[in-house]
Amino acid sequence: MLILGIDTSCDDTSASVVKDGVDILSNVVSSQAEIHKRYGGIVPELASRRHTENIIPVVERSIVEAGIHISDVDALAVCYGPGLIGSLLVGCCFVKSLGYVLNKPVVTVNHLEGHIYSIFITPTFPSFPFLSLIVSGGHTSIYCVKSHGSYEELGKTRDDAAGEAYDKVSKMLGLGYPGGPVIDKLAMQGNREAINLPVPLMPDTLDFSFSGLKTAVKNTINRFKDDELLGEQVIRDIAAAFQSVVVEVIVKKVQWASRSTGINRIALSGGVAANSGLRKGLLQTAQGEGLEIFLPPKELCTDNGAMIAAAGYQRFSRGDIAGLDFNPKAYLPLSS
Ligand code: KG4
Ligand code: ZN
Repeated sequence: MLILGIDTSCDDTSASVVKDGVDILSNVVSSQAEIHKRYGGIVPELASRRHTENIIPVVERSIVEAGIHISDVDALAVCYGPGLIGSLLVGCCFVKSLGYVLNKPVVTVNHLEGHIYSIFITPTFPSFPFLSLIVSGGHTSIYCVKSHGSYEELGKTRDDAAGEAYDKVSKMLGLGYPGGPVIDKLAMQGNREAINLPVPLMPDTLDFSFSGLKTAVKNTINRFKDDELLGEQVIRDIAAAFQSVVVEVIVKKVQWASRSTGINRIALSGGVAANSGLRKGLLQTAQGEGLEIFLPPKELCTDNGAMIAAAGYQRFSRGDIAGLDFNPKAYLPLSS
């Protein structure tokens, strides 16, 4: 069974053909990072304009690279939220039109469900139940995934998502957008002990909070600026200290979630799951705690159409087909 999956929820236009929910035949992602870089973050109007230009070429390429004809597709899966409404509208309107013209069923997928399903298109995936940590630019959540389509949220961020904190700290340091990869790289050359930052652990909850950390970084930067000491090595040290705190918090919460549920299988997804410090930290903790960590390759951690196709396959198999009157939603909690 062939599913065409499309995601335009944020700043990447992506389309993919996945066979039987597991086999990626193509996965095309057109990044807009270059456009948004100069603004230090995503400009929603520019993102949706670029999606309108990109959607047809990206889908065409996904079909050609999969070596199929568009009429071979059994169903179309599209991310309908949460995300930027103008961006979501482009993907949803496109899929509705394509579904109507080709007379193919359309399946709608929550973006978070898509991230959870990125683990099912990798060679080794966990058995149910497992914990899914989603750490991206828009979300930082831990879910218990009980079976296909059955999720319980154990914790989520109360303010900034981890990726958002990376992007904002990067902007403060003049390092551009997206902040994650550049801070990740600089952190490896910095001394985390040189900078003192608070660790927002909140011991009684699996929720996260990164906004206080972000403010602490801002105050630290301002102090170095006032003293005219914000040189290259200080920037590396700040990056190292910030990353080490983010990693410490996430790793601890995963550990606690595992202890409180008794579930030791942990899957990662979302752009921040590409972070080398986080991957290393989790793998180290895994050894001591007896955790089994499932890490998708980096290109499946960030937004992509394949994860939408994989989740769409499961929904389609269960007969969960959308009418053509559905609308995208900027705010869309993940429910079972
Ligand atoms: O999942 P994603 O592509 O889009 C959303 O759904 O948000 O995640 C994008 C986020 C950005 O905030 C970016 O800075 C972050 O993922 N990111 C990273 C790394 N690569 C991307 N954060 C930390 N370390 C990385 N290596
Ligand atoms: Zn995402």
